[in-house]
Amino acid sequence: MFKIAVLPGDGIGPEVMTEALKVLNALAGRSGIKFEYTHQLVGADAIDGAGKALPAETVAACEASDAILFGSVGGPKWEHLPPNEQPERGALLPLRKHFGLFANLRPGICYPALTASSPIRPDLVEGGFDVLCVRELTGGLYFGQPKSRTTLPDGDIEVIDTMVYRKSEIERIGHVAFKAAQLRGKRVMSVDKANVLTNSVLWRETMVELAKQYPDVKLEHLYVDNAAMQLIKAPRSFDVLVTENLFGDILSDEMAMICGSLGMLASASLGKPKGDGLYFGLFEPSGGTAPDIAGKGIANPIAQILSAALMLRFALGLEKEALAIEGAVKKVIESGLRTGDIFTDAPGTRRANTKEMGDAVVAAL
Ligand code: IPM
Ligand code: MG
Repeated sequence: MFKIAVLPGDGIGPEVMTEALKVLNALAGRSGIKFEYTHQLVGADAIDGAGKALPAETVAACEASDAILFGSVGGPKWEHLPPNEQPERGALLPLRKHFGLFANLRPGICYPALTASSPIRPDLVEGGFDVLCVRELTGGLYFGQPKSRTTLPDGDIEVIDTMVYRKSEIERIGHVAFKAAQLRGKRVMSVDKANVLTNSVLWRETMVELAKQYPDVKLEHLYVDNAAMQLIKAPRSFDVLVTENLFGDILSDEMAMICGSLGMLASASLGKPKGDGLYFGLFEPSGGTAPDIAGKGIANPIAQILSAALMLRFALGLEKEALAIEGAVKKVIESGLRTGDIFTDAPGTRRANTKEMGDAVVAAL
């Protein structure tokens, strides 16, 4: 019996979560595995329902679970609230910090059948590709202190965000990247801004030092501006990309888009491994709440479904089942079914809504 805290959140979160749970239940039905879900409020949903973005009950339910399956939080309706009470800063970031989820894995997979949905030149993505973005998630500008906004005596306004990293934080995310690379293409691309930032100088030194422990892995470096360019110019040249929090936020959206759509990008946010080699983690689509299409039943549920697969792999130790979901998603894409975000009028493709896409994944399992 696996206990899963289900936090659908706002916008398209609940719609895509329904499809992910459908897929998990279909797996459970045929394999004898049992999932026990506890549905909890988070984000704007929780502000409306319980007065704050991350109620104590939600945190307690997550603590009592084996993993958190998360939808998305935020939306224009809550932008009038003080920043720290808004869904993103009031719920998602505190959850990441509370559980020490420092390693964010974002698998950027461009399926060969989906290259037509990529906005870049066909010859650059032909045959598809597979990049793993390893983003540091609990340090850097997101969390560094001080953070402030001050009106100065002359009436001008000064704002401060602080970029802070400890060497130990760089080391632990570096190990995640090198270990991941050992299991795939054996190449790590470390992304920094070492020509400007003190942070990045230490980042680069540390990666070079760590690389000595992984002689089978080739380490290379790119400045973040160049990395943004190389991702578009030569996406197939990447294997594992490792970078700090804000750079990873930006580059992972770019990577997702090159793969076809943000609606396809799953993520796993992991802490330190537990004794059994598994991780407590939060599993969420990398995209947002998509308020423009929320409630219409047309959002792409694949990122949420693939996030559930990552949960099976990393938190529950169900590798075979994770592969079954990933294989089913691939089949559905190959069958030509497309939600609006990945729809092109390529021959053999057909437009589908959220539910049809989820049903097709269940059927392909
Ligand atoms: C992401 C999101 C979040 C982030 C937002 C919602 C705070 O963009 O997970 O990439 O910036 O980390
Ligand atoms: Mg982001």
